[in-house]
Amino acid sequence: MADDYGKFITLEGSEGVGKTTNIEFVCQFLETNNVPFIRTREPGGTPLAEALREAMLAVREEEVSGMTELLIVFAARTQHLEQVIRPALALGQWVVCDRFTDASYAYQGYGRGLNLEHITALESWVQNGLQPDLTLLLDLAPDVAEQRMQERTKDRMESEQREFYQRVRAGYLERAAEQARFRIIDAQQSVDGVAAQIETHITDLIRHWRG
Ligand code: TMP
Repeated sequence: MADDYGKFITLEGSEGVGKTTNIEFVCQFLETNNVPFIRTREPGGTPLAEALREAMLAVREEEVSGMTELLIVFAARTQHLEQVIRPALALGQWVVCDRFTDASYAYQGYGRGLNLEHITALESWVQNGLQPDLTLLLDLAPDVAEQRMQERTKDRMESEQREFYQRVRAGYLERAAEQARFRIIDAQQSVDGVAAQIETHITDLIRHWRG
């Protein structure tokens, strides 16, 4: 029997791994397969959460602590979950989200060095057991990602040094090793190669959902 609830898919990875191209591919693939979905992102996804995103990413003179970042992203996440994600899933729509809580572990936990237990506490408080059904992790060495990023105007996070991105990548890989919902995708292969892998994972999830 088909599942009444939609499935929750998240895409993760550091800057420059090709998240935007691949999220578009995921959405096209769902459309082709007549799966109802919404596409959204974090931090963001509602007017208030988008305002928090702007506040978080703006380049500023003042130093911004990792804890401040963490509380901003979880405030935005609370609003996003209540206003958008939970209602969509309850209506049977799939949610395709560009980043979610794994990014808080990778960036604030591993990147900024915050205590992972604090993140886990916020996660259980805010999510109350809700987790993505599938997380696609686009993995790429930071030096290759950096080359791809050269043309962009950088926000506050993108202005971090390579060592920061090495820690972020290691954090993502560590989480992926611990949680069955992750699929690691080598983002160095061709666009078609990445798309083929994504297609396989989403096809499995659609089959499971249709029952
Ligand atoms: P992006 O989604 O356009 O890549 O940018 C979002 C930025 O915010 C990116 O640098 C990662 C960062 N971020 C965190 O640091 N923690 C989080 O929990 C989330 C969702 C994003």
